[in-house]
Formats: sequence, C-alpha cells, structure tokens
Amino acid sequence: MPTLDGAVVLVTGANGGIGTQLVHQSLARGASKVYASARQPRAWDDPRIVPLILDVTDADSIRAATRAAADVTVLANNAGASVHSPAILEHTDAEIRANVEVNFLGPLFLARAFAPILRQASNAVLIDIHSALSWYAVGGIYSATKAALWSATNSLRLELDPAGVLVVGVHVGYVDTAMARHAAGPKVDPADLVGAVLDAVEGDEYEVLADEKSVTAKATLSAPIAVAYPQLARAARS
Ligand SMILES: NC(=O)c1ccc[n+]([C@@H]2O[C@H](COP(=O)([O-])OP(=O)(O)OC[C@H]3O[C@@H](n4cnc5c(N)ncnc54)[C@H](OP(=O)(O)O)[C@@H]3O)[C@@H](O)[C@H]2O)c1
Repeated sequence: MPTLDGAVVLVTGANGGIGTQLVHQSLARGASKVYASARQPRAWDDPRIVPLILDVTDADSIRAATRAAADVTVLANNAGASVHSPAILEHTDAEIRANVEVNFLGPLFLARAFAPILRQASNAVLIDIHSALSWYAVGGIYSATKAALWSATNSLRLELDPAGVLVVGVHVGYVDTAMARHAAGPKVDPADLVGAVLDAVEGDEYEVLADEKSVTAKATLSAPIAVAYPQLARAARS
C-alpha cells in the first residue's frame, strides 16, 4: 500500500498555492524529504525541504532534476498555467503553445524522465493535477491541455502499473490560489484539496474528484453534448 511515510517527494510548481500545501502536508504525513521545485525556488525553513530549480518546459532542466533527485518515490506534477481568455479562437499562437508546454508536455516529459526512477522505487506514486475543466471545455486552451493530460495520465497509469507505481489523477474546480484570483464563485481550500489528494495516495486510489463541479463534469461526459453545454443554440431551441 502506498504511504507518504518515508517517501521522497518532488513537487513541481512548489511556490504556488497547491504546491506549497503539497510540500508541507507530505512532510506532515512522514515524508523524509521533499524537493520543492520551481523556476525560481524560494528558501524554505526546514532541512527536509530541498529547493530545486525546475522549469517543466525545459528539457535540460528536466534532465538535471532527474540527476539531482534520483531518489524520488513520489512525483507530483502540479505546475500549471492559466490563460488570459477562455475563448480558444481568441488565443495567440504563443499563448496556445505556452499553455501546451506547461500544462501538457511538461508533466508528460517529466513523468517520462522519472519513470525509470519510479519503476525502481517501492511504493512509488505519480500525481497529476488536472482540473474539472479537463471534462468541461469552457477554459479555452487550458481545458484542452488538461483534457490531454488526463488522457496521458490514463496511459501512464497503464504503463506504470506493472511496476507497482500508483498514478493518481486529480480533478477540481476553482481552488483558492493565485491562479483563481479573478474567478468568482466557491473555491476549494488548497489545504483541503491536498488533504484529499494525499488521502487518495495512501488509500491506493486512482482518481480524486475534489468537488461537486468535478463529479458533475465527469458524470456529464456520458450524457448528450447539449446536457453538458445547454448554451448551444440547437439545445436552446429544442
Ligand atoms: N487554482 C485553481 O482554481 C485550479 C483548479 C484546477 C486545477 N488547478 C491546477 O493546479 C495546479 C497548481 O495551480 P495553483 O492553483 O496552485 O496555482 P498557482 O498558485 O498559480 O501555482 C502554479 C505554479 O506553477 C508554476 N509554474 C508555471 N509555469 C511553470 C514552469 N514552466 N515550470 C515550473 N513551474 C511552473 C508557477 O511558478 P511561478 O511561481 O514560477 O510562476 C506556480 O508556482 C496547476 O496545474 C493548475 O492548473 C488549479
């Protein structure tokens, strides 16, 4: 059974709202070391926290991280970026490419780079932070990247399972962090989200649906398109 007790955890985007909770709560559950990775790591007031430079869009940076953190047993693909506008037809080429790099290719390439390390570890875990928007396409390219990551996570789960690596996919609506600063409506407390994520890790569960939005978005996938998107003109006419 996976456990955080004695785990060596690497968190991407560790300076962010959810990342910081992943760092602290992993240690609270007994992790022996946490690599708190970021493009510009900050100082941490705990000798068990090892700041690590990691830009998830940079292949050299990913390679260097595998060398610096070859003892990782839990990889948390948490780093992510939002987009300015939710309209996919309004994004610039640069916005689309940047979002794909951070939210999809970054975590995929990181998982691939760390796969040999995770396969050799005992009680190894890969955590991929998706979104409720993986299943609800109102976030423009952000939704598309999170849907792509969800799919890749399913593939990674199948390929890592024979080596005993647990792959946990996380879906959640708004979380009260800098990323959702401008969003209205209820937001999940990042501490509660990370508590649920680590419960799933220690409960050997594949997926976290952290709020009602995620539960509804997943359930609606099997319904006719117009149920998920009642704003469609044809749906409104019927
Ligand atoms: N907040 C929400 O409502 C919400 C909802 C669903 C899912 N999520 C997902 O949760 C994850 C964490 O987001 P958050 O809410 O904690 O937002 P956040 O506070 O804005 O943190 C995001 C972190 O990702 C880092 N990052 C961005 N680009 C990076 C790169 N190229 N390499 C390494 N790190 C990079 C940022 O680092 P810098 O400090 O260097 O910019 C930042 O620390 C993301 O994957 C996000 O999509 C968030």
